[in-house]
Amino acid sequence: MKRRKLIIDCDPGVDDATALLLAFAAPDALDILGVTVVAGNTGLVQTARNARIVRQIAGRADVPVFAGCARPMVREAVDAGAFHGPSGLGTLAVFEPDAPLAEGHAVDFIVRTLRAADEAVTLAVTGPATNLALALVMDPAIAAKIDEIVMMGGARSAGGNITASAEFNVFADPHAAHVLLTAGCRVTMFGLDATYQVLSSPERVAALEAVGTDAARASAELMRFSNGIEADPGRRAGAPLHDPCTIAWLLDPSLFIVSGAKVAVETNGGLAFGHTAVEFRAGPREVNANWAVRADGAGVFALLNERLGSL
Ligand code: BDR
Ligand code: CA
Repeated sequence: MKRRKLIIDCDPGVDDATALLLAFAAPDALDILGVTVVAGNTGLVQTARNARIVRQIAGRADVPVFAGCARPMVREAVDAGAFHGPSGLGTLAVFEPDAPLAEGHAVDFIVRTLRAADEAVTLAVTGPATNLALALVMDPAIAAKIDEIVMMGGARSAGGNITASAEFNVFADPHAAHVLLTAGCRVTMFGLDATYQVLSSPERVAALEAVGTDAARASAELMRFSNGIEADPGRRAGAPLHDPCTIAWLLDPSLFIVSGAKVAVETNGGLAFGHTAVEFRAGPREVNANWAVRADGAGVFALLNERLGSL
């Protein structure tokens, strides 16, 4: 597999943290140029600290972390503290990381890095898409330097998780998601339809914890926290593992089935604000994204166990 150049744009966030650990554990496949953070699950100060905590757990001080936007493009800020706890990392012990943030704004870093890139760069977006959207507004020509945008966001058949029909990342900055979907880039979207097929059942969490590395234990603790909020005995074996699907896709696309669609975001307010309209009947020229329809949950967990065991 070709080693991909990658920027991870995130809002850690319990599941963002596991996504970061998975990416940090795959230096053979992923050349991580930087991690950029945005306000989303919690405020920017916390997401910037949390990304550095995760980096330290992974022992990847070589990867710079840049702070980005403190609020969405147009709408007022919303957070997901109810799902991630006050710190954003559930019950994981938070501490002041040894290494500071990199100097400069995340949006400048994205623009600068893509302009200078001699080979196309992949963007994994696991929070509200504000940073990348603003980079594309600042310099639309960088779209040509993007190999693929792999984003966690949206919902079709699953319905919403923050409103009846909207998924949190798109709801938190629908205008930014619109910019990504209309930039002419290759976009692969992991919405709730797919991530609800990757459940952190108690058995899977126990197996991950038994892997025994600091990274595996931290990830298992984050999942236990999510299970305390989102598992639904009898109906859902464990909380869905959303953001790691993006990195799992980059490491092993055979774990997913995606289908070309025209995806549009409701930005006009009202009951469906932030809803993703996913049209599989679109003609080839209208298709703007690959929409994940199936995920191999057991396979994603096997990948996590293998990779986090190597950290
Ligand atoms: C998404 O929302 C956030 O709370 C999670 O981190 C994930 O990115 C799931 O809807
Ligand atoms: Ca997230």
